Amino acid sequence: MRSHCKSMQDMPNVLKSSGLSIWFRRGAGSSVRGRALLWVCALGLALPAIAAMPPGEKVARGSNCFSCHAVGHKVVGPAFVAVAQRFAHQPGAKAVLVHAVKFGHVGTWGNIPMPPHPDLTAQQLDEVISWVLSIRPAAQPAAAVVAKTYHYTVDGKAVTLDFPVFRPGTKKVTPTVFRGYELFNSYCFRCHGEDATGSEYAPDLRQSVLNGMTEAQMTQIAMEGRKAKGMPAWAGFFSPHDLKAIYEYVAGRTYHLVGQGDPPE
Ligand code: HEC
Ligand code: HEC
Repeated sequence: MRSHCKSMQDMPNVLKSSGLSIWFRRGAGSSVRGRALLWVCALGLALPAIAAMPPGEKVARGSNCFSCHAVGHKVVGPAFVAVAQRFAHQPGAKAVLVHAVKFGHVGTWGNIPMPPHPDLTAQQLDEVISWVLSIRPAAQPAAAVVAKTYHYTVDGKAVTLDFPVFRPGTKKVTPTVFRGYELFNSYCFRCHGEDATGSEYAPDLRQSVLNGMTEAQMTQIAMEGRKAKGMPAWAGFFSPHDLKAIYEYVAGRTYHLVGQGDPPE
């Protein structure tokens, strides 16, 4: 296999025999093909294995994802199988995760940030996230892959959430919750009340959470708005992550984990 890589002249045969010729021919010139070949050779991977690999996994291997992630277990970042499970039934999960990988993210899985990936194209992001979301747990003990939950006690009552309100081992809120506080009190408070306490203009969103409104539902209502009733549409103004932050802040207020005013950061 490696011997094919020694000479550029061997290249077309290598590619043809592997069924990859169409893929590479889309490239405009020989320099593109040359680069593609060098890439293949540098990795020292068998071409048939690459051909069989889903496009999203190819993107992950060509980028730096595997320096922090593995499919089945936590490294610096969460196991990809855990990401797939956590977002399995969330509408709009793909957009949320594309945004996280593109711009970087922190706070969902702990306090280590994932750096942004400005170099990935929209198509590469789409492919890599589709692949991550397609990963199903292998036959492992289910406990190893259940989505993480966070347990708090407030006034003797147990509260379990699927996101952290505080940085591990502290009383300081996560950057996401703090951002939610800032956004809420900049954009939502004038109708929904300062610190999410409700007002005569619009419902108390803590009550909405108590009534069972999920993050996905709140995001959807906030994105679409209810214009006839005076609730503006925020799509295009807020990213899904901004709305996630607002939801986490409101939920923190709902369960008395976050008080009024500036939460400790
Ligand atoms: C330097 C380490 C690092 C690299 C490189 C990295 N990640 Fe991450 N990733 C993390 C950490 C840490 C988190 C958890 C962030 C959080 O808690 O919100 C994470 C979270 C994620 C999530 C879940 C995001 C969420 O909102 O829950 C996805 C999906 C993901 N990474 C995919 C990727 C992909 C795809 C790549 C490569 C293009 C990549 N990561 C590269 C460290 C990394
Ligand atoms: C200009 C006033 C106004 C602003 C600003 C506003 N809302 Fe609303 N919102 C409303 C009104 C009025 C309703 C009630 C609509 C109805 O009766 O269906 C509402 C309803 C909602 C609901 C549905 C609640 C439920 O239980 O059905 C959500 C969720 C919501 N708003 C989120 C937000 C978020 C998040 C923000 C800030 C990004 C925001 N709103 C900003 C006026 C506003």
